Parts: sequence; C-alpha cells; structure tokens
Amino acid sequence: MQTDQKKALYEEAQKELISITEGETNVTALMATVCCILSQKFDYYFWTGFYNVDPNKENELVVGPYQGTLGCLRIPFGRGVCGAAASTLETQVVADVHAFPGHIACDSRTNSEIVLPVTNADGQLIAVLDVDSVEANSFDETDRIALETLMQRIFAQ
Ligand code: SME
Repeated sequence: MQTDQKKALYEEAQKELISITEGETNVTALMATVCCILSQKFDYYFWTGFYNVDPNKENELVVGPYQGTLGCLRIPFGRGVCGAAASTLETQVVADVHAFPGHIACDSRTNSEIVLPVTNADGQLIAVLDVDSVEANSFDETDRIALETLMQRIFAQ
C-alpha cells in the first residue's frame, strides 16, 4: 500500500477510535474496539490482537481481545516477536517472520508482523499489540509511528 494511503487510513482510524472510546476506561472494551476498527480498515491486517501481561504469572503474556484465526494462548517474555516486544519494550517490525529467531507460528500463513509494547498512564507495560500479515514486508515506519501514537492516545491518557 502507498504511504499516503496508509497515512490517510491511520488518520481515519485514529479519529474514529478517539471518538468511539471517549470516556471509556475499561481496558477490555478499548482493546476489542481497537482490534475491530483496525482489522476492518486495513486489508493487510490478517491477525490483529492484544497479548496482555498476566498479573498472575511472572513474565508471561496471555491472549486478549483479537480478530483473526486462532491465536496461541500464552507467550513467555523473550519468546517470539511478542515476547521480544514485551522484554525489550521496543516495537518490533519484522519483514519476514521466518527469519526471526523463535517466531511462534500460530498461523503458518503469516509472513510479516509488527508488535508494539502497550503501556498505561503510569508507564507500566500492560500488553503488546500484535498485527500479522500474510504478505512479506507489510509494515514500515508509517505503521510503527501511527500505531505507537494510537496506543499512547488510547491506553496512556
Ligand atoms: N506472531 C507472534 C505469535 C502470536 S500469533 O502470531 C497470533 C510471535 O511470534 O510472537
């Protein structure tokens, strides 16, 4: 997708999400709404979902709201792309998941992905946002910047 088109869609998505979620503080409701709007808006979003930090297990993510095919339930910090985002607190943009050490293939059709750490207003990690695409090299700086801004607006304000 052309960069201009991507940017325009992210702007639309951000406007819609800010308006729909205004005043809502329930994290599950926010996550479910983000997954719905983003996965409907972008054709290349094949799997869109959150893995939450499990408060009952040290350094483990547990699946949260998502749209797409069956996702695995739990991911330890440090494993796969989601685990790397959780342990480094840095967005992971992966052009070819098959070249990523320890990638967890929940659905073998996935070829590229982006995973962002999601923090709350206190700066604590609460989840990661995982978006997978069947195409290679779907995600770039435009996706990274737009999604980081969106996560900040929805979960940290
Ligand atoms: N892609 C992830 C695993 C989760 S699923 O693809 C839904 C990873 O390697 O972290």
